[in-house]
Parts: sequence; structure tokens; C-alpha cells
Amino acid sequence: MKDKILVTGGTGYIGSHTVVELQNSGYEVVIVDNLSNSRADVVDNIAKVSGIRPAFEALDCLDYEGLDALFTKYKGIKGIIHFAASKAVGESVQKPLLYYRNNLVSLINLLELMPKHGVEGIIFSSSCTVYGQPDILPVTEEAPIKVAESPYGNTKQINEEIIRDYIKSGAPINAILLRYFNPIGAHPTALLGELPNGVPQNLIPFLTQTAIGIREKLSVFGDDYNTPDGSCIRDYINVVDLAKAHVVAMDRIMKQKQEEKVEVFNIGTGRGLSVLELIHAFEESTGVKLNYQIVGRRAGDIEQVWANPDRANNVLGWKAESTIEDTLRSAWAWQKKLREDGIQ
Ligand code: NAD
Ligand code: WQD
Repeated sequence: MKDKILVTGGTGYIGSHTVVELQNSGYEVVIVDNLSNSRADVVDNIAKVSGIRPAFEALDCLDYEGLDALFTKYKGIKGIIHFAASKAVGESVQKPLLYYRNNLVSLINLLELMPKHGVEGIIFSSSCTVYGQPDILPVTEEAPIKVAESPYGNTKQINEEIIRDYIKSGAPINAILLRYFNPIGAHPTALLGELPNGVPQNLIPFLTQTAIGIREKLSVFGDDYNTPDGSCIRDYINVVDLAKAHVVAMDRIMKQKQEEKVEVFNIGTGRGLSVLELIHAFEESTGVKLNYQIVGRRAGDIEQVWANPDRANNVLGWKAESTIEDTLRSAWAWQKKLREDGIQ
């Protein structure tokens, strides 16, 4: 058995997949989640997939005393993967203080408790949103950080800075910042996936909900961008591939292999796909025809962004492996499972 790891937000979309991969690789996992954007029965499905039931505490990361007690209860936690956060870009514009409080204070609580409880390292869920519209593509980790488009994006930038400043001050911890591109897809068993809250804002849940008939049609936000087909380009990363990146990053922290006390990695495929290309790939890989129409641009959208994942490939030894077809089929299987289970 490897070390004991605390996964905050571990019943969420990326967290649940990561818990399974950590368990598959021999780590013992403790999940903390306040269930604000996930369900407690995700723990049952994690257990079905991995064969191991992780410890689970329904707790808010804003609760400093609660977290303190948790580290005492599960003595010997050596690493943290911190997923817990509010993540809806539009909502963050409406409710900035909720986002600043939840996303900043949760991290500060964890950082403050790490030395006290002998926790050596933390992996933080950052985002390609910190690059805004990069000047050079594919974007590397050295690209300048651009002014954030939303309070949500700003919390990612500030959290990166908080971690850097804390470590610079001499805190006895190490950190890895993983900048995810666009995570999509679901577990191949269709037991884990994304549970969108209300009307989905992200492309894939809206697309699969349209395909199954919950939504009448998918709007493509703009076909007049400066891209080959005029629609926006993103780097869509399979969620299981993304989950595996956390395992190798945690191995690196636990084996004290880091060259710097704070390291940052892009987690993407290195390939940009347009919205229209993605729609066609979905139709071809699932055989399902999509009702879509081109509408105007969405405010705040970046025209095009995709990763240069060389550092993650070379230093972490991690590479995105899934094909886009398999990933889209997994998203579709998940949508059908939600219907079967009467969830959506
Ligand atoms: P998610 O909402 O599915 O998971 C987050 C989990 O954290 C949820 O289960 C929620 O209940 C929990 N949570 C929120 N606030 C909490 C708190 N104060 N205390 C305890 N639990 C709390 O989101 P996700 O897509 O899995 O994202 C995970 C992380 O990755 C987030 O930090 C997000 O900002 C980041 N990220 C996501 C994307 C994406 O497109 N999904 C892209 C880049 C970065
Ligand atoms: C993808 C593309 C849309 C919906 C957001 C956050 C980012 C990160 C990931 C966390 C864009 C187009 C979408 C629709 C469409 N999250 N689209 N019709 O905007 O790249 O990134 O999620 O850090 O911070 O901003 O993802 O899935 O919303 O959009 O045409 O109904 O699909 O314009 O080009 P985005 P998305």
C-alpha cells in the first residue's frame, strides 16, 4: 500500500475518476466533499469500479476545525489533491464573493493545516483559463498569465499565487499545479461521469443532453472566428487520462522527485478541435444525429487554445492516450446511463 491521500471534491466529476486511479495504483484515499455539486452515492460507484470503498466525510473545506479534526482522525495523510471548488464561470460573475470565499478560503485552510499534520504535498486543480487567449499556440507553461475573464478564473490565478507565496515563505510543503484544458467524457464502465447542475453551460453535457432529447438543439456559439471553420478551438482531454496525470504527479511528490518546490504542468492532448469538428466526431462515433444551429458568439469566449503538453509528457511521463471517438462514446454512454437511472 502506498501513502494515504486526501482528495477534496472527491465525489465530483474529475475527483471521482481520480480516486479510482489512485486506488488502482495502490494509494489509500480519504474523500472530503460537501456534496454541493455531487451525490453521496458516487462513493458506491467508486467502490464498484475499483473494488475498494474509500473513506468518505461529508465536510466543507471552509470548516477549518472540521478539517483539523479530519487530519487527526485519519492520521498519516501524506498528500492532498484539492479539487473542491465552485466552477461555474457564469455563476461566478453573478456571485463573486461566493466564489472568492469558497475557492480561496478552502485552499488557505488546507495549506495552513498541512505542516501541523505532516502533510508533505498538494496537487492543485488549475486551469488553462489562466492563459486567456494565448499569443502563441500551442501554449506552454511559460506563457504569460492574462487578466482573468471571470471571478472563477481569477480564483485559479490567485490560488496559484497563494501556493507560491506560502512555499516561498518557507512552508515545509511541495506543490504541483495542474492546468487542465477541457476535461470531457466519462468512465468506460459508465458508472462515473459528470452530473451537470441545471442547464449545462459546457459543450459536451449540452451536446449529449440534446442528443438524448432533453434539449431541443445545441447552439454553436459563433462561426466567424479566425479559425479554419470559424468555430472556437479547444483541447479536449479525456477525464480518465486527466485522472491518471494526478497519480503520476502524486508519485512525483511522494518520491521527492520534484526539481522545484512548486511545479506546473499543462494537462492536455496537444491537439485543438473546433466545436464543429467535435460535433461531427460525435455524430460519426455514436451514429447519433445532432440538432444544432449556429448562433452568435458567447461573451467572454476565447477564440482558440490548445496545450503544449511536452513538459507533462517528458517530466511526468504522462500522455493523453484516449481517442476523441472513444471519449465521445463514453460521454454518450454516460448520458444514456443517467436516463436509465432516471437521473436525467
Ligand atoms: P465538480 O463540481 O464536479 O467537483 C467539485 C467537487 O467539490 C463537488 O463534488 C463539490 O460538491 C465539491 N465542493 C465544492 N466546494 C466544496 C467545499 N467548500 N468543501 C467540500 N467540497 C466542495 O467539478 P470538477 O469538474 O470535477 O472540477 C474539479 C476541479 O477542477 C475544480 O477545482 C475545478 O475548478 C477544476 N477544473 C475543472 C475543469 C472542468 O472543465 N471541469 C477545468 C479546469 C479546472
Ligand atoms: C467549449 C466550446 C464554446 C456550449 C470552460 C471554462 C474553463 C474551464 C473549462 C474550468 C467553446 C462552445 C459551448 C454550447 C458552444 N473550466 N460551446 N455551445 O468555455 O472552453 O471552458 O470550461 O476551469 O475555465 O471557461 O468550455 O465547454 O463551455 O465551451 O458552442 O452550448 O464550446 O463557445 O468554444 P470553455 P465550454
